Amino acid sequence: MVQKQKADILKFKEMKRQGKKITMVTAYDFAMMSQVDKSDIDMILVGDSGAMTMMGYETTVQIDLETMLVFCKAVANAGKHTFMVADMPFMTYEIGPEKAMINAARIIREGRMDALKLEGGERIAGTVAALVRSGIPVMGHIGLTPQSAAQLGGFKVQGKSIESAKQIVKDALALERAGAFAITLEAIPSPVAKIITETVQVPTIGIGAGNNCDGQVLVIHDLLGLFDRFTPKFVKRYANLGQDMQNALNTYAREVRDGVFPDKEHSFNMSQDLVEQLQAELQKEGIL
Ligand code: KIV
Repeated sequence: MVQKQKADILKFKEMKRQGKKITMVTAYDFAMMSQVDKSDIDMILVGDSGAMTMMGYETTVQIDLETMLVFCKAVANAGKHTFMVADMPFMTYEIGPEKAMINAARIIREGRMDALKLEGGERIAGTVAALVRSGIPVMGHIGLTPQSAAQLGGFKVQGKSIESAKQIVKDALALERAGAFAITLEAIPSPVAKIITETVQVPTIGIGAGNNCDGQVLVIHDLLGLFDRFTPKFVKRYANLGQDMQNALNTYAREVRDGVFPDKEHSFNMSQDLVEQLQAELQKEGIL
């Protein structure tokens, strides 16, 4: 197996220039990241979607900075050949650039991430610019921004009207001006994503934004079939690991009940002589 080379933000820009698609999935723990790191995936996101996939909350706003740091540390322990981005959790950057810098520094330093992702366009461009000036690569995220889903009326497609599509284009331009190295476009019509992708110089990473983006991202639990609470229209399932896990667990339970497991291969033995000696001594000493 040829070990992939870890990409960086210049490589992603070059990939856009050459028309090579960028691949990204989420990751939240050591075991999953160990697999992703061995795969052909270019970049991972320690997403705040971990609030839902890892912790079972209904939305992404429940995850706090401390929990995000736990996920980042676990992922970083396995991520040797993959560029790693982490979400800044809800309300860790909206208060203003100064607070955002303090929290960002923790995710970069303690969480050992390569870059951060913030939700929002024009309204947070100042904070993005401040983080970029301080040397942190920042990915933008516009369209459906789950941290403000309540304000958007739920997890709904954005940019369907001229007005709202125009605002998303303006948001993309504001993020590019602020120095974002890439922009996630979530749940917007493909033609709007195409206009943005052709307008900005930085890569666009789509999720529910069609095939014209420079790259794609999916939540790993969705693509592997490990999350069945709901499945958005834009998710394609590439495996059914949930079913595979059920099969494995049920086989294990059956083998334990039937006395089939553990067999000799999975047990430690002792010579018959030693067993007899042990029994004799236990009896002599009155232990048995
Ligand atoms: O948290 C997340 O998983 C995300 C993706 C949907 C892009 O932000």
